[in-house]
Amino acid sequence: MDNTNNTNNTADTQRVVVIGGTSGVGFAVAQAAAAQGSNVVVASSNQGRVDLAVKKLGGGRVEGLVLDVADEAALAAFFDRIGEFDHLVYTAGEPLLLKPLADLAAAESRTFFERRFWGALLAAKYATPKLRPGGSITFTSGAFATRPAPGASLGASITAAVEGLTRALALELAPLRVNAVRLGAIRTELWDSSVPDPESFLRAQGSGLPVQRVGSPEEAAAAYLYLLGNGYATGTVLTLDGGAALA
Ligand SMILES: NC(=O)c1ccc[n+]([C@@H]2O[C@H](COP(=O)([O-])OP(=O)(O)OC[C@H]3O[C@@H](n4cnc5c(N)ncnc54)[C@H](OP(=O)(O)O)[C@@H]3O)[C@@H](O)[C@H]2O)c1
Repeated sequence: MDNTNNTNNTADTQRVVVIGGTSGVGFAVAQAAAAQGSNVVVASSNQGRVDLAVKKLGGGRVEGLVLDVADEAALAAFFDRIGEFDHLVYTAGEPLLLKPLADLAAAESRTFFERRFWGALLAAKYATPKLRPGGSITFTSGAFATRPAPGASLGASITAAVEGLTRALALELAPLRVNAVRLGAIRTELWDSSVPDPESFLRAQGSGLPVQRVGSPEEAAAAYLYLLGNGYATGTVLTLDGGAALA
């Protein structure tokens, strides 16, 4: 579905673009931003998922576009097509690739950076000329950035890279604001394709946390919305992990 012309932006209505906004955390961000009165663009690589997300978000203020973030030309064309907007939220990604270093093949290791790191960097590059004054970019990191585990070298590297990118761009692109959310375990569709029994996995993950449960997409979305809305927040990596960093 291509709903690009469905919205009617007024001078004071914010326009929020969520890459990865058709599922999980990104979908919850899109939902929360729309509920606050923003016009929202959701994008991801699967047409069916884009159509379904737009439908679930109720159409109206929501546009949906197909975009593969591993395709640089598609990213450039995407931002040319959507024009000016206020906030970019980047949640596109996949489950972690957990393997001991000895078992990691070079090609799969490099490919793993395509969506969560190179896609984020290139999205920032092509989005920046379209972001209005007062705008922001919010990336997605993860708890492995500061608390890795054996077998998580790629996950730790990719999340730490995203956090480094966040700080560097907060300086380079200022006064545009650039932040990231460092997520702990969140109950999303991501786990359906990552572990054989998502429910018991998430229950076990949650039971080891100070809050004794994993987070919801809505709780995660609130962290992104905070960073979008607080004009003093830049270079910030906001940890939302149920206390995992302490456990
Ligand atoms: N859930 C957690 O516990 C957790 C914890 C820490 C970090 N994270 C990270 O947070 C981010 C969001 O997680 P989530 O749980 O919301 O995942 P999710 O529900 O699986 O959503 C991922 C989104 O990324 C999109 N996507 C995947 N490949 C893409 C591509 N090549 N181009 C454009 N879009 C693409 C997916 O849509 P399509 O399939 O249509 O492309 C989907 O909309 C991910 O980077 C994840 O690794 C999640």
